[in-house]
Amino acid sequence: MRIVLGVTGGIAAYKAAELARQLVRNGHEITVVMTKGAEEFIRPLTFASLTGRKVITDLFSSASPDATLSSAVEHIGVAREHDLLLVAPATADVLAKFAHGLADDFLSTLYLAFDGPVVLAPAMNDRMWSHAAVRENVAVLRGRGHALVEPGDGYLACGTVGPGRLAESEKIVAAVEDALRKRRTDLVGQTILITAGPTREPVDPVRYISNRSSGKMGYALAEAALARGARVLLVSGPVNLQPPARAEVEQVQTAAEMRDAVFAHLFEATVVIKCAAVADFRPATPSAQKIKKTSADRTLELVPVPDILAELGDGPRNFILVGFAAETENLLDYARRKLEGKNCDMIVANRVGGDGSAFESESNEVLLVLRNGETIPVDRAPKRVVADHIFDQIVKLGK
Ligand code: CTP
Repeated sequence: MRIVLGVTGGIAAYKAAELARQLVRNGHEITVVMTKGAEEFIRPLTFASLTGRKVITDLFSSASPDATLSSAVEHIGVAREHDLLLVAPATADVLAKFAHGLADDFLSTLYLAFDGPVVLAPAMNDRMWSHAAVRENVAVLRGRGHALVEPGDGYLACGTVGPGRLAESEKIVAAVEDALRKRRTDLVGQTILITAGPTREPVDPVRYISNRSSGKMGYALAEAALARGARVLLVSGPVNLQPPARAEVEQVQTAAEMRDAVFAHLFEATVVIKCAAVADFRPATPSAQKIKKTSADRTLELVPVPDILAELGDGPRNFILVGFAAETENLLDYARRKLEGKNCDMIVANRVGGDGSAFESESNEVLLVLRNGETIPVDRAPKRVVADHIFDQIVKLGK
């Protein structure tokens, strides 16, 4: 396999040489990308000798001898040509850059252009490792599905003892092999239509009825599907999230608009996942003008909106249909009823409201309810991880 080994500027940078040697010995082709900081600790020549390949040291370097332009876009080519990105040692700085999408050198631009598996092996001072900022960045990166090889406990270069030492090379190599084994291309050729977020049903030009859905689960599904090789059509209600770059997105507001967008693209879909929290009712006669507080009429008359999932499940179909169930009680019972009532292949049941609610949360804990009566619990995990469990089942349903 072709692996990019990113080396950043920590005292453990020298250990990356042994790591490169072991990966080469396992039969991998290694392209080393060094940050400026890393060059303070170890020379590129060491890696060039160990890997037999040129070492990339700078965004605008003469890595491509023929033209400045081709070197300026080389990170895109490197991203496309490699199967896995490993960063070892990963400093607090590179974790922060990756977590927040900063791109000011070759490694950080490469990261943004890379959509394969990422393995990060951090190394830093123990106090830095336990700082809230680093903890939060690590959580973000884990949430994206990246593998983190935890630093070990021991004597640190700064003279203290604690967690922060770069993990042993064998452990990092094992994490790389594991990530390569799990590298999934099992959704290649699938077109996955995902609805996400809430809908908004207008009361008047300034007010609406909606719900607490943040869209995070639907967007995590879109990311996971893209990472596994699918084409993704994302029909999204109003949310404060940036959609994944390669998703084809249609923004909608109301349930009626969501229904139209779903049916307009249905002929392309091999899988439909109705993750959106559709408002069940809309005001019967939205006012064209703002309703004044002096208005005599204080009663809002509501009428039901179309049940998109039920319509999708009605009649023969040539796509897999997955619905969600948002419940505050009787999770399994209601989920089974929705599976039958809306004729889905699977229902993802999650608890909403109160502590541990799926709404507005970074993590989720779900129950996958299948037609054959099987129920599969998925323990609490970042939504991106839960998304992969959902696709594991969808892949099985398609077989
Ligand atoms: N759904 C839909 N259109 C609606 C309402 C719901 O497509 N008008 C879909 C949701 O996207 C979800 C599933 O139906 O996949 C279940 O949604 P949920 O809100 O849990 O249930 P409801 O069908 O609204 O039923 P209830 O309000 O009784 O829980």
